[in-house]
Amino acid sequence: MLRAPAARKRSRAVEVGVPRREEVKFEDVRLFLVERKMGRSRRSFLTQLARSKGFAVEDVLSDEVTHVVSEDNQASSLWTWLKQKNLPNVHVLDISWFTDSMREGRPVAMETRHLIQDTLPTWAERSTPTPGTSVSQYACQRRTTTENNNKIFTDALEVLAESYEFNENEGPCLAFRRAASVLKSLPWAVQNLGATQGLPCLGEHTKAIIEEILQHGRSFEVEKMLSDERYQTLKLFTSVFGVGPKTAEKWYRRGLRSFSAALADRSVHLNRMQQSGFLHYGDISRAVSKAEAQSLRNIIDEAVHAITPTAIVAVTGGFRRGKEFGHDVDFIVSSPEAGEEERLLEDVIDGLKKQHIVLFCDYQASTFDITKLPSHSFDAMDHFAKCFLILRLEASQVEGGLHCAEGDRRGWRAVRVDLVSPPMDRYAYALLGWTGSRQFERDLRRFARLKRGMLLDNHALYDKTKKEFLAATTEKDIFAHLGLEYIEPWQRNA
Ligand code: UTP
Ligand code: MN
Repeated sequence: MLRAPAARKRSRAVEVGVPRREEVKFEDVRLFLVERKMGRSRRSFLTQLARSKGFAVEDVLSDEVTHVVSEDNQASSLWTWLKQKNLPNVHVLDISWFTDSMREGRPVAMETRHLIQDTLPTWAERSTPTPGTSVSQYACQRRTTTENNNKIFTDALEVLAESYEFNENEGPCLAFRRAASVLKSLPWAVQNLGATQGLPCLGEHTKAIIEEILQHGRSFEVEKMLSDERYQTLKLFTSVFGVGPKTAEKWYRRGLRSFSAALADRSVHLNRMQQSGFLHYGDISRAVSKAEAQSLRNIIDEAVHAITPTAIVAVTGGFRRGKEFGHDVDFIVSSPEAGEEERLLEDVIDGLKKQHIVLFCDYQASTFDITKLPSHSFDAMDHFAKCFLILRLEASQVEGGLHCAEGDRRGWRAVRVDLVSPPMDRYAYALLGWTGSRQFERDLRRFARLKRGMLLDNHALYDKTKKEFLAATTEKDIFAHLGLEYIEPWQRNA
């Protein structure tokens, strides 16, 4: 509470000061303080205090207001009043959020304890996921589990996103991905277009697709795309390990339409990765199960600990987010001995080779140089030592057997495995970056840049205002630096 002596002192300073409009530091936050229970003089004092710290405070409640702050715990009367004002997307917060924000000198992340829950049953029928909160445009401020209540819509939107990606049309591609991601976060299924009102990132085009699906059970635009020859061919070619959109496009332009055509064409030169991609296509295009991932974890654990018993092995990627199936299994391997991590990865690969289970290995040595850090470009690819593997997994090592085609009697399958090995002091950043999802990572970076003036990547977090790097030993430290409520890995399936 703000009745601490320090706050009193500050209040006098504000009162004696020349009244003037303070500079607004937080453009996207407009407060309104509810006078009921608070009283007029305290409200006026808190208003001055907030303005002196760069917060915009509105005197009247209008749709400009983003955060309503109240000391009134009689939530039902507050909500009755707010309901008449018809502001479904405003945040309704307890005074504790306000005092926390004043103490920090910036709007702190809204936590559940800050929210004044609505107790009116009619309000609960509104389309917001939790009464009293609205959906953030940033995936890193949403909790998205693997349960997708809107798959019928998100599958369709992702087809369109992908088709724009094939055409290197980034704007609409991102727009459709963001829209799909918002829908994935909803704890309810969209049953009519009205329910999407107030949700961020849903443009006209997206709404038209949703409406089509609601009316006809499918989208004709998406179906047309799915039967488009170019889309089908690029989709097919990029499904091969080592074949990206550029190569796929090149093959398509040469008139190639099938694997057999690509393999028979004299002008097509496959690199080592693509050769392995074709060789193991059946296996590695089939999803990896959780049981298979667990078995690979044991294999990697053993290989790593045979070299350095104190090393850390962590499953990351989709399996860390609780997915049942993945396209590969991602591991972070690190040594507590600074500088050991690179050598460790090479030794692990040697160990796996001695077991004769390495079907393909592309090792990339570290290009990470901590002394060059401030000049680093903050991009998606990181500079840690890593390897992209295809491993042979025996059925006998997997609880419940392999996830393989019916009638497959080989007793083994090929699986894609990625290992990355950051230095220990970069571990938290690497773990956060490799846990994904891609959309979650994209929005973490966008949020850091646009909302906090910070640069985030798999190596570090840089505060542009303070011109310094922020240290972190856990993911929680990084969320705290960003002023974000912690999101658990299984809530990052954006
Ligand atoms: P994946 O492509 O493995 O995705 O990358 P996933 O979420 O695990 O999904 P599936 O189940 O395998 O399809 C995992 C994360 O690692 C990051 C990606 O951005 C993604 O968030 N990553 C991957 C990097 O940061 N750098 C890389 O070089 C590769
Ligand atoms: Mn993965």
